[in-house]
Amino acid sequence: VVDIRKLYADTGMFTYDPGFTSTASCKSKITFIDGDEGILLHRGYPIDQLAEHSTFMEVAYLLLRGELPTKEQYEQFTYTVTRHTMVHEQLAMFYRGFRRDAHPMAVMCGVMGALSAFYHDSTDINDPHQRMVASFRMIAKIPTIAAMAYKYTIGQPFVYPDNSLSYTGNFLRMMFSVPAEPYVVDPVIERALDRIFILHADHEQNASTSTVRLASSSGANPFACIAAGIACLWGPAHGGANEAALKMLHEIGTVERIPEYIARAKDKNDPFRLMGFGHRVYKNYDPRAKVMQKTAHEVLAHLGIKDPIFDVAHELERIALHDDYFVEKKLYPNVDFYSGIILSAIGFPTSMFTVLFALARTVGWIAQWDEMLQDPDQKIGRPRQLYIGAPYRDYTSIDQRR
Ligand code: ACO
Repeated sequence: VVDIRKLYADTGMFTYDPGFTSTASCKSKITFIDGDEGILLHRGYPIDQLAEHSTFMEVAYLLLRGELPTKEQYEQFTYTVTRHTMVHEQLAMFYRGFRRDAHPMAVMCGVMGALSAFYHDSTDINDPHQRMVASFRMIAKIPTIAAMAYKYTIGQPFVYPDNSLSYTGNFLRMMFSVPAEPYVVDPVIERALDRIFILHADHEQNASTSTVRLASSSGANPFACIAAGIACLWGPAHGGANEAALKMLHEIGTVERIPEYIARAKDKNDPFRLMGFGHRVYKNYDPRAKVMQKTAHEVLAHLGIKDPIFDVAHELERIALHDDYFVEKKLYPNVDFYSGIILSAIGFPTSMFTVLFALARTVGWIAQWDEMLQDPDQKIGRPRQLYIGAPYRDYTSIDQRR
C-alpha cells in the first residue's frame, strides 16, 4: 500500500534550473557561441566573415545542409526557394479577418500557423521529402507573408513576388513598391538588409529556437512549430528588443539625457533596463552588434541621413562601457542595439522590426527543427518542476469551507 501523502514530497532526483542557464537541452552541429570571447560560428564559419562575404541564401544553405554550397548547389537552392514565394490566393482572405491596426507580429503568428491548413502535403514530419518541401515553403513564403502583413496594416494592395529579384530585393519590393510607380531595388540597401538577415539567421538554443524544438518534440506540424517560435520571439526580452531599443533611444532623445537613463537602469527599484544591452550568453561584445554598428554607418552615409539618435546610441554605448555597473555585470550592446537605427533609415516602421527578425530566424528554426527530428536521442520535451504548493489534503464539501 502506497501512502500517497508522502508522494508529493518524493519526486526523485532532478536539477532545478530556472531559465535553463546551465542545462543543455540537445546536441547540435549548427551554431557555436563562446559568450566570454564574443565568438559566434555557423557550422564553424565566423559570423563576421559570413556577414562580409556571404549572402543570406548561402547562409541558409549552410545552416540547413552543413556546408557552403557549390555554384550549382547555390543556383539550384535559390531557384527552388524562388519557386515557392507565392502564397495561396485564399490566404489573402485570411488577412482580411484581422483588424487593420493589428500588430504585424500578431498577424505573423496567425498566418504562419494557418499555412498548415493550406499545405497538407508537407506536414508529415517523418517523411524527409515532406520536411524538405515544408522548409522551402516556409523560407520562401515568409517574406511574402511579412510584406503582406505590412501592406494590410497600411491599407495598400498586396504586392506579388517578383522572382527575377534576389530573396532580399524581392522582399524590399513587396514592402515598398506601390501600384503604377516603378520600384528599383537599391543595391546598397539590399546588401545591408541581406547582412541583417545573416546576422539574425541562427543563434543556437535561444528562447524561440528552444520553443520550436519543444513544440516539435510532440510531433506537431512544421508550420505550427514555426508559429510557436514567432510567438516567443515577439517578447521584448527577445526579438522585441530591437523595437524597444529604438523606442528607448527616441525617448532619451538627446545626449544630455543619457546619464538619467543610465541611473535608472542601475536603480534596483526601477524596472527600466537599457534595451539592446546585455545577453544571456555573451558576457563580451556581441560580434553581431559590431557588424550592425558598421552597417548603420554605411546605410546612413549612403542615404545621406544625419540621425541624432545614432549619436545618442554611440554615446550611450561609450558611457555604459565605462560604467562600473555595466562592466561588472558584463553588459554590452547586443544585436538589437543598432539594428533599429538601420531599419528605420531604410523605411521600416518599428512594428516591423521583430517581423524582420522572425523572417531571418525562420532559417535557423528550420535547421534546428530538422536536426532535432533526425536525432535518435530526441524525446518529447518534458521538463520537471519543483513542487512548492499545498501538501496532501482531503476534499471538503463547500458548506464545510470557511
Ligand atoms: N540594463 C540594466 N541592467 C541589466 C540589463 C540591462 N539591459 N540586463 C541585465 N541587467 C542586470 C540585471 O538587472 C541583473 O542584475 P542583478 O544581478 O543585480 O539582479 C543582471 O544584469 C543579470 O541580468 P539577468 O536578467 O539575470 O540576465 P539574463 O541572462 O537572464 O538576461 C537579457 C539577459 C534578458 C537579454 C537581459 O540582459 C535584458 O533584459 N536585456 C535587455 C533586453 C534585450 O536587449 N534583449 C535582447 C537580447 S538579444 C536577442 O534576443 C536577440
